[in-house]
Amino acid sequence: MAALLGFLGLFGSTYAAGGLGGRASVCGSVPPFAPGSFNIDVINASGIEREYGVWVPKHYQQNVSTKLIFSYHGAGGTIARQRALDGLTEPAFNTDHIVIYLQGLENDDGKTTWEGAPQAKFDDLGFTSDLLNRIDGEFCIDERHIYATGKSQGGGFVGRLACDPNLSKRFAAFAPVSGAYYNASITKRAECHPQSMPILCDPGRKDIPILAFHGGADDTVSYFGGYRKKACLPDIRYWIGQWSERESLGETAVNSSIAGTNGGINITYGGGLVKLVFDGWNIPHDWPATFENSDNGGQNLTSFNATTWIMEFFGAHALG
Ligand SMILES: *[C@@H]1O[C@H](CO)[C@@H](O)[C@H](O)[C@H]1NC(C)=O
Ligand SMILES: *[C@@H]1O[C@H](CO)[C@@H](O)[C@H](O)[C@H]1NC(C)=O
Ligand SMILES: *[C@@H]1O[C@H](CO)[C@@H](O)[C@H](O)[C@H]1NC(C)=O
Ligand SMILES: *[C@@H]1O[C@H](CO)[C@@H](O)[C@H](O)[C@H]1NC(C)=O
Ligand SMILES: *[C@@H]1O[C@H](CO)[C@@H](O)[C@H](O)[C@H]1NC(C)=O
Ligand SMILES: *[C@@H]1O[C@H](CO)[C@@H](O)[C@H](O)[C@H]1NC(C)=O
Ligand SMILES: *[C@@H]1O[C@H](CO)[C@@H](O)[C@H](O)[C@H]1NC(C)=O
Ligand SMILES: *[C@@H]1O[C@H](CO)[C@@H](O)[C@H](O)[C@H]1NC(C)=O
Repeated sequence: MAALLGFLGLFGSTYAAGGLGGRASVCGSVPPFAPGSFNIDVINASGIEREYGVWVPKHYQQNVSTKLIFSYHGAGGTIARQRALDGLTEPAFNTDHIVIYLQGLENDDGKTTWEGAPQAKFDDLGFTSDLLNRIDGEFCIDERHIYATGKSQGGGFVGRLACDPNLSKRFAAFAPVSGAYYNASITKRAECHPQSMPILCDPGRKDIPILAFHGGADDTVSYFGGYRKKACLPDIRYWIGQWSERESLGETAVNSSIAGTNGGINITYGGGLVKLVFDGWNIPHDWPATFENSDNGGQNLTSFNATTWIMEFFGAHALG
């Protein structure tokens, strides 16, 4: 018993610094995967086997509370493709956050999509919640610094996480890229009004940080929204404005031009709590990067790396 108390005491300050609550037994035990490794694992969530990838930073130590990112692929995507796209396991962008890549299941449209997409039928909020609990129970997680990012419909799902009464309280900040924020209950073209459509959003806390990216030449998920796949997509300016309104940040954004882009601007509310990076008029349905990635095929490069800005944004926000 004394030895156990001594052990807990030894690591006590680490938890305090990370603001951890009640996960003391995990920190200091043996991690399920070695530092510096990438692994595929499965979890039985709501009775269904779900696959996910786990990337553990090279210098990870099980006795140091560590930041965490969940990353969601786009429709039809995979763990491997999202990992290659977001660059979060590359030292240029991230060396100290554990990264989890979740795999969506094939829905009725034959594509791997997430809850909220037209024809989606799996409980991905439940999957996310169960997986968060598992990762938090296996690794020494800094619970104040857990983040979510995703591409396209995976970005749309990140929007859902931010709007969820429970999960909005587990993630400290959200960064959707070229997000497809479907309202799949609006099934008629005539009822799709991208600049005034209802967006179901019931976050469980105030002051939720949102950093969204979108390109003006996106012909998959238009910047101006519209009817798609028998569902309705919001105008992205309206979507971000709704976040500002929800968080009482006012109707007026501060716009600042992004150097080296074709009309790219940061549209900022509340001093940066809510921000839309408009990538520029020439940027299609891409993950913005200054170099070739699987989205841009070496064309339509931007002057900035979305991943760098996402990491900066995550670094500036923590749960209280
Ligand atoms: C998953 O869990 C359910 C109960 O929640 C169980 O019926 C099922 O057999 C499990 N599946 C696997 C593959 O373990
Ligand atoms: C964590 O454990 C390693 C040995 O595994 C030790 O060298 C290091 O000092 C420990 N760090 C803390 C913060 O306790
Ligand atoms: C979410 O929280 C509400 C109460 O705020 C609770 O009733 C509900 O069961 C929770 N859902 C999940 C999936 O944990
Ligand atoms: C979609 O719009 C309907 C009204 O047509 C609204 O009741 C519902 O909450 C919206 N759902 C989402 C997911 O935004
Ligand atoms: C900022 O940009 C948004 C989106 O393009 C636009 O609606 C708004 O009028 C701009 N605000 C100012 C002050 O220029
Ligand atoms: C635009 O926003 C990004 C991400 O927050 C930031 O790094 C960059 O400095 C901003 N640029 C301008 C011109 O405001
Ligand atoms: C570059 O963007 C243009 C639209 O501005 C698009 O037509 C073209 O397919 C894009 N190239 C690639 C490789 O994505
Ligand atoms: C973007 O990332 C690439 C790859 O790490 C790097 O070479 C490049 O300098 C970065 N560009 C900017 C503007 O940070």
